[in-house]
Amino acid sequence: MADATEFHDRMLSLGLARVSEAAALASASLIGRGDEKAADQAAVNAMRDQLNLLDIAGVVVIGEGERDEAPMLYIGEEVGTGKGPAVDIALDPLEGTTLTAKDMPNALTVIAMAPRGTLLHAPDVYMDKLAIGPGFKPGTVTMTMSPSERVSALAAAKGVSTENITVCVLERPRHEDLIKEIRSTGASIRLITDGDVAGVMHCAEPEKTGIDMYMGSGGAPEGVLAAAALKCMGGQFFGKLLFRNEDEKARARKAGISNFDRVYTRDDLVRADVIFAATGVTSGSLLHGIRREPGWVTMETILMRSKTGSVRRIEYRAPVK
Ligand code: FBP
Repeated sequence: MADATEFHDRMLSLGLARVSEAAALASASLIGRGDEKAADQAAVNAMRDQLNLLDIAGVVVIGEGERDEAPMLYIGEEVGTGKGPAVDIALDPLEGTTLTAKDMPNALTVIAMAPRGTLLHAPDVYMDKLAIGPGFKPGTVTMTMSPSERVSALAAAKGVSTENITVCVLERPRHEDLIKEIRSTGASIRLITDGDVAGVMHCAEPEKTGIDMYMGSGGAPEGVLAAAALKCMGGQFFGKLLFRNEDEKARARKAGISNFDRVYTRDDLVRADVIFAATGVTSGSLLHGIRREPGWVTMETILMRSKTGSVRRIEYRAPVK
């Protein structure tokens, strides 16, 4: 018989899927309406309501921002009924607000849960990110390698030429040199306009998504969520916080970070077993987006537990009132 903790964990994971579904359902009517803020707010409200029904003593460690800038799901907010296990919560009620507003691929609702004190309290600064999928030896690619060295190293490890490697990168002016260098190796690049949690997750299923590696900078909070996903799916992730000014360093100090040059591995960002749920808002190569038909919406959630390596895809059809 499974022990009580194990059983509780399993039940909680289904609860977490409901939380992520609720956020997606709430944002459904705002897909393609050009209003990022409204879509985000709808997802935040629904995620918070649903989260507060869970029997957990949760604390938001990756959330909507500092308390003074985010009234709901702010960092440090206590969530859940307070009756269950003490847990850290990392969430992004709508990862890809612009993708949702413009009805572009790969907008997700995302939430992860782990024992209290085991998720990095990442400040809201940029993070330089590097990810590859499962099955490679430690050290196959590193943050100290140049982008072109990483492409060559991964190609050698896969036994293919660099032309057969595809790297996912956020399309930003700050990535111009990175893109140029990757292209110089012959590798191809999948440019995304937003949503690097999905970008990193793509590396875990290269046969399905066609993406072998993720490189470039994006939000640090999204980095913790991406690391949580890869801890469940398998794969390597590295992140280094990037600071543009003293104010950002002060944010990091407030979050308990003193070594500003540290390269975090996946398991430094997520130090214990984690449950991860994401629901597709708009369709992408990982998840179907919300499908609307008169009276109904259908959505797809990926629900994963790192402890067991289980990956569930749940299709949920709900009546629209
Ligand atoms: P939002 O959902 O908050 O709009 O964030 C989307 C996103 O693309 C993240 O996936 C990524 O980490 C970050 O923004 C990149 O930031 P920037 O747009 O400043 O380059």
